[in-house]
Amino acid sequence: MSQFKVFVTRRLPVDFTALEQIATVEVWQERQPPPYEVLLEQVKQVDGLLCLLTDPIDRPLIEAATTLKVISQMAVGYDNIDILAATARKILVGHTPGVLTDATADLTWALIMAAARRVVEGDRFTRSGQWTTWEPDLLLGPNITGATLGILGLGRIGQAVAQRARGFAMRVIYHSRHRCPPDLEQSLGIEYSSFAHLLQVSDFITIHTPLSEDTHHLFSDAQFEQMKSSAILINTARGAIVDPDALYRALSRGQIARAALDVTEPEPIPMESPLLTLDNLIITPHIGSASVQTRRKMAEMAIANLIAGLNNQVLPNCVNPAVYSWEQGTGDGLQGSSTTF
Ligand code: GLV
Repeated sequence: MSQFKVFVTRRLPVDFTALEQIATVEVWQERQPPPYEVLLEQVKQVDGLLCLLTDPIDRPLIEAATTLKVISQMAVGYDNIDILAATARKILVGHTPGVLTDATADLTWALIMAAARRVVEGDRFTRSGQWTTWEPDLLLGPNITGATLGILGLGRIGQAVAQRARGFAMRVIYHSRHRCPPDLEQSLGIEYSSFAHLLQVSDFITIHTPLSEDTHHLFSDAQFEQMKSSAILINTARGAIVDPDALYRALSRGQIARAALDVTEPEPIPMESPLLTLDNLIITPHIGSASVQTRRKMAEMAIANLIAGLNNQVLPNCVNPAVYSWEQGTGDGLQGSSTTF
């Protein structure tokens, strides 16, 4: 007989059989996420929650979750979850790092190339019947080969983006909270840079840092003013790292040349956003990890975290291991561990 109750906030590409051995599983069947009130009602009754980055798991919700033992997020980022509130209530939080590194780095490169070589504009141009001849100056963009790539945040995804840049003989500079060891810099062929220098010299800037108080609107008017007028900005991390109003000003005034975003603030981007009127901007709908294999692995990891948490075992990928030290009386339990992308 099932011992536990679990709520899963969306249909997932995974087999629930192993989970169903130990729990009664309710899966939200709609395309849109469950409304907040539904989540609130569910967390009052369940032992485990499997959620996505679209579910706001905030302090009031966590405080109402009296039976909840484990929150398992199917994503690497977890800025939608109040980790301190969960840790204070000894609720374990799991996530899915590592498996989406390559897929996200691949999409980053797809956006770098599409923005540089104006692929989306070219497609629109063709479909609207404007391709009437070969033109010497049609849809020109900058060289990628030999250009300077600035990577902000050198976690797993930032490193995978740097690896791919080697094939383009780029100069790669990076800025990160912590400078990485010299042997890693050497093997990736990258140079450490201050944030200001990175802004000033990069032809392409790609963002791979988590969203936090420190990185919220890190790209705003002052940063765009320092960038080259030919610069291209790519964001596949979190939308709120870029101030959307400042980005609109920078792109519409030609302060920077182009941008490509896989993430926006808010998500989804409202159809009335002025950003959608710009030809020098590409927007994709948060599909960084959207390869068939990656999404399947993410779902499997999320289920594995959930089962471990329900069975009082160590989560294979835990965001707040402080809960364990707190339970053992060896820590204050209030520190969430942080993960770099
Ligand atoms: C996607 O954005 C993730 O955090 O997994």
